[in-house]
Amino acid sequence: MLLGTLIGLGVGVNASVITRATDPCAAIGGQKWVSPTAVRDCFTSIKVNETLKANIIEVMSKSLAFHTSVNYQIKAPEPFTQAVHEDLFADLARITKQTYPSDYDLHIDLSRTFKRLNDGHCVWINSCYVSLFINYLPIPLVLLTDSSGNQAPHIAPEAFAVASAEFPDEISVWQNALPGNLKGKLESLSGAKVLSINGKDPNVAIDANALITGSFQGIGTRQNTFFSSYQVGAGGWNYILGNFAQQSLPLADQVVLRIQRTGSPSTDTITLPYRSRFMGAKNFTDTASFLANNCRAVPGTNGVDLNAPTAADVSPAKSPAAHFQQQPAISPGDARKQLLNVILDSAPLSDVVLPPPLVPQRPVNGSRTSAQFFLLDDNKTGVLALGSFSDNDYNAFLGSMLDGLLTLKSLGATQLVVDVSNNGGGFICAAHWLHRIIVGPKSTSVPQAGLNTTTRDGPLAQQIVQQIVTKNLDPNLQLLYNPQQWRDASDNFFAATDNWLVPPVPKVINGHDDAFSQQLGQECQPEGFPVTPPSEALFDPSKVVVVSNGRCASSCALFSVTMSKEEGAKTVVLGGRKGVQQQYCGTVGGESTDFSTIDTEIKTAQLKNSSLAPPDLLVNGVQGITWRLGFGIEDPTQPEEWQNRPADLNLLLSPEIVNNPFATWKAIVAQLL
Ligand SMILES: *[C@@H]1O[C@H](CO)[C@@H](O)[C@H](O)[C@H]1NC(C)=O
Ligand SMILES: *[C@@H]1O[C@H](CO)[C@@H](O)[C@H](O)[C@H]1NC(C)=O
Ligand SMILES: *[C@@H]1O[C@H](CO)[C@@H](O)[C@H](O)[C@H]1NC(C)=O
Ligand SMILES: *[C@@H]1O[C@H](CO)[C@@H](O)[C@H](O)[C@H]1NC(C)=O
Ligand SMILES: *[C@@H]1O[C@H](CO)[C@@H](O)[C@H](O)[C@H]1NC(C)=O
Ligand SMILES: *[C@@H]1O[C@H](CO)[C@@H](O)[C@H](O)[C@H]1NC(C)=O
Repeated sequence: MLLGTLIGLGVGVNASVITRATDPCAAIGGQKWVSPTAVRDCFTSIKVNETLKANIIEVMSKSLAFHTSVNYQIKAPEPFTQAVHEDLFADLARITKQTYPSDYDLHIDLSRTFKRLNDGHCVWINSCYVSLFINYLPIPLVLLTDSSGNQAPHIAPEAFAVASAEFPDEISVWQNALPGNLKGKLESLSGAKVLSINGKDPNVAIDANALITGSFQGIGTRQNTFFSSYQVGAGGWNYILGNFAQQSLPLADQVVLRIQRTGSPSTDTITLPYRSRFMGAKNFTDTASFLANNCRAVPGTNGVDLNAPTAADVSPAKSPAAHFQQQPAISPGDARKQLLNVILDSAPLSDVVLPPPLVPQRPVNGSRTSAQFFLLDDNKTGVLALGSFSDNDYNAFLGSMLDGLLTLKSLGATQLVVDVSNNGGGFICAAHWLHRIIVGPKSTSVPQAGLNTTTRDGPLAQQIVQQIVTKNLDPNLQLLYNPQQWRDASDNFFAATDNWLVPPVPKVINGHDDAFSQQLGQECQPEGFPVTPPSEALFDPSKVVVVSNGRCASSCALFSVTMSKEEGAKTVVLGGRKGVQQQYCGTVGGESTDFSTIDTEIKTAQLKNSSLAPPDLLVNGVQGITWRLGFGIEDPTQPEEWQNRPADLNLLLSPEIVNNPFATWKAIVAQLL
């Protein structure tokens, strides 16, 4: 088609035209919808550049000195031993030696190596490939259970409503792909039972995805990631399509399903193509512009020396990492001031909308952005639907959480459902605030409403602190390693001259010598709270239920873990596979960060020339890490990260309640409160 267009323009078939026409990246450049094969043809045409490969691996290896969990993740304790057993350094050594047919194949190996950690904080995302095109099917799946207790995947009842609203310009391709008398009748597939996927038991596809999706330790949570779900976004209710209907790489070309449509006595076999939609920020026309616009380091890929007069500091809120953080945009001021714990996902935050009939109506006063409050029609159950612990205004966000809970009480609510489905974290102190205002002041909420933490204590980290304290390099308190940011185990601030990483606390983890900082106390109270919290509990914690699809991470996990393990709140996971123990949250961490932020610490501390410092990254990549790790509640000598967090209830979903938040909350009240 491209060749035809060029000939039509009167350009003769000369060498340059043939070169363009056979350039597989030119074939997809400037187009919105293409086939996944065409995207792969472009990606796999890029050969490995050994300089760039070595650069990526050096940045990763040296950045991992700042990731708390490297040695723990070689073999996690039970119940996660099966799920987490990745030796990153062994694999990076293997990858260094291995040759690859293309740079895309190298990317997949690097990315999956990190994903095997099942730690949404420690990931490798190369924006040259990840979510440049997103691969879609118009039939998101849900896992439903019928009245006799039989569980099976179904095409979501709302599938057609979602797809026709989100893909109006592509839906005809799928309509026309349906066979025989189903042609044009995509809508009739909504709600159909799925009997097989690509000729096999659907669990085969679900479990294969669970092995590569990453982000959460719990196998149940990674199985749930296959299915669609909802989330309160800053601009309204989002619909998360799930890994079956949405892929961040062009992995699959089509799917063959055997289905039984609702009301139909017989089954149908259908084949639907995946279609790839361009999601990049910058267009390209050929291989050269594909590489130049998408694959090279961009402002924010690397850190800056904050004291350099010419430093073009990229606000953390606009950094390349922020694109993949599962939280709404936060203001530049809050971004450096407020500490974050948030997961990185290879899909940018969804803006696919939950169909209007499913959206909960009449939020009460106090609702704002990702925090929406409702009163159920029993007049005694209040609901806080909280899709994120981030907001573009930290103080207003914390204020609204208090306003909303007070409104619910004034309306007569005596029990509370907190729905944190797909809450990937955000402000650490917002999580502590919510815990504190629900339960009131007590030993588990004042002064520490979260977890005590520790950070990795390697030689370069110690040198960063030493440089800061002896040379006064951080007068505006912008650096993580500044002692004035932290309190000791007795909750006293470190002195400005105290190298708080010396002496390190030695530990042996999975046979490897490691070193961590002394225990850090709480960092939120009182200065992190914008107003004085109430002097009494707002709700009896035994009348609080924390509910999600398991995908509650980071700051959301800090909130859920303390509410459950310290306060006795009940926990619910929505729609997990029967017989699989569901974890009510995961990827706890303590504080997350990334290579670029660490690079700013190193550069500002004037240590970039150290042999331990990672070089500048040359590609458009993001390396996430866990910078602090919270100590456990049941076993305070070990990290909370790999301790058990079993949900009290796996709420099996029916067609009537699936992806319908109001109906789901009512079902939870009926079963648990
Ligand atoms: C890319 O180019 C096409 C065709 O010129 C245009 O329709 C589209 O909006 C452009 N997309 C971006 C992200 O610039
Ligand atoms: C590999 O990448 C480096 C750094 O961007 C560049 O200087 C070099 O020209 C590239 N090599 C090839 C063969 O393209
Ligand atoms: C909600 O806010 C409005 C406007 O401030 C006020 O009139 C109303 O009384 C409030 N309702 C509740 C239940 O607090
Ligand atoms: C809840 O309150 C509303 C408004 O006051 C009232 O109309 C309704 O009957 C109440 N419902 C129950 C179950 O008490
Ligand atoms: C934090 O550490 C202090 C001092 O060791 C201890 O008293 C407190 O119980 C710890 N808090 C948590 C939540 O582990
Ligand atoms: C790094 O650079 C500083 C000056 O910026 C210099 O004092 C120091 O000796 C250098 N260190 C190394 C290891 O080269």
